[in-house]
Amino acid sequence: MPNALFTPFKLRELDLPNRIVVSPMCQHTAEDGCANDWHMLHLGTLAVSNAGLVMIESTAVERDGRISRGCLGLWSDENEEALDRVIRSCRRVGNTRLGIQLSHSGRKGSSHRPWEGGRYLAPEHDEAWTVAAPSALPFEDGGPLPRAIARDEIDRIVESFAASARRADRIGIDLAEVHMAHGYLLHNFLSPLTNRRDDEYGGSLDNRMRLPLRVFEAVRAAWPAGKPLGARITGTDWLEGGLTMEDAVRLASELKTRGCDYLCVTSGGIVQKASIPYAPGYMAPLAARVRREAGIPTRAVGYITTPDIANAIVAEGQADMVAIGRGFLDNPRWVWHAAEALGETISYPPQYEKTRPAVWRRPSAPAVEAIRKTGT
Ligand SMILES: Cc1cc2nc3c(=O)[nH]c(=O)nc-3n(C[C@H](O)[C@H](O)[C@H](O)COP(=O)(O)O)c2cc1C
Repeated sequence: MPNALFTPFKLRELDLPNRIVVSPMCQHTAEDGCANDWHMLHLGTLAVSNAGLVMIESTAVERDGRISRGCLGLWSDENEEALDRVIRSCRRVGNTRLGIQLSHSGRKGSSHRPWEGGRYLAPEHDEAWTVAAPSALPFEDGGPLPRAIARDEIDRIVESFAASARRADRIGIDLAEVHMAHGYLLHNFLSPLTNRRDDEYGGSLDNRMRLPLRVFEAVRAAWPAGKPLGARITGTDWLEGGLTMEDAVRLASELKTRGCDYLCVTSGGIVQKASIPYAPGYMAPLAARVRREAGIPTRAVGYITTPDIANAIVAEGQADMVAIGRGFLDNPRWVWHAAEALGETISYPPQYEKTRPAVWRRPSAPAVEAIRKTGT
C-alpha cells in the first residue's frame, strides 16, 4: 500500500500523481508583469521536482492588481508571451502539472519588493499606483489609503479575472485557482474588517460574497470544463469581528455549487494586529472542517514541515492535498526526500538517476574517522 501522500488524485480531467503541491509563492521579479530568466530557473527546477502540482505564484489580473511592482501578471499580450516561454520550457524539461493563482492585490498593492526595504512605494514614486479596495481603509497606519471601488468598476474587475483565465488556458496551464485570501481584493470584500460598503457588495455575508462569487462564476465560464478550478479561501481572520470558520464553510458551499473543484484553506493576512498560533500543520484543521462540512476536496497549508506531517494530514482525511511553500524553496527535491523517508519509489529525471540515495549515499562515520586519522 502506498502512503496516502503518494496516492494519485484526480480533479476533473487532470490526474495528479501524488498529493504534494508546491504552494503559490510570489517571486516579485517580473518586469511589468512579464516572467523572465528567474521564472525560467525557478519554475524549471520545480518542473522536475516530482510534486503532483506546481502552483505558479499569485498572478495579477490587472496592472494595478499587483502586490509589488515585481509581481507576475497576465493582463497583457506581453505577459502572456513571456509566461508562455516559461511554460514551454517547463514542459520540455519536466512533466509536472502546472497551476496558476489568479489574483488582485486590493489594498495591499503598490509595494516595494520585499527585499527593497520599506513596504509601500512613496506616492511620488514613478511606479506607484493608487490601491483600490471595497472601502477606504488602509492596511496599516501610514500605508496608502485605498480608493473605494465604484459600483461601475466591478464588471471590469470580474472581466479581468476571466480574461486572465483565458490567457492561462491558451498557454496550456492545467489548473487555475482564484485567490480569495491573505488580505487581497476578494478577501477585502469578504471580510467585515475591510468591507464597510452599504451597497449590495457589503453588509451581510451574502453581499460580501457577491463579488468573489461573481469572479468565480466568470472564471469558471472562461476556463475549460475539463480543467479544474479552485480557490484559496480564509478559514479565519484570527481577529474578533473578522471571518470565521462558519463563513468559510458557507463560502465553500457556494463555490461548490458553482463548479469549484477544491479549496486551499489558509488564514490571516487581512490586518496586522491578528495573533496567529503558528505551529506545524496549524491550519490543517481548517481544511478538515471545510472538507467535512462543505463536502469539497481541500488542500491544507501552513508549516507542513516534514513528510510524516504531510502524510498524516492526507491519511487522516484532513485534506486531499497538502501545499508546501518554504519547504520547496529550501529544498526543491522535497518530494524525493519525502519518498525516501516514507519508503516510496519515484521516478527521477534520467540525468539525475545516480542521485538515488541507495546509489551514492554511504554512512559518513568511517570517512570522518579516516580524515581524523590522516590529520593534516
Ligand atoms: C516567498 C513567499 C511568497 C508567497 N507568495 C504567495 C502567493 O503568491 N500566493 C499565496 O496564496 N500565498 C503566498 N505565500 C504563502 C504560501 O503559499 C504558503 O501559504 C505559506 O508560505 C505557508 O506555507 P509554508 O509554511 O509551507 O511556507 C507566499 C509565501 C512565501 C514564503
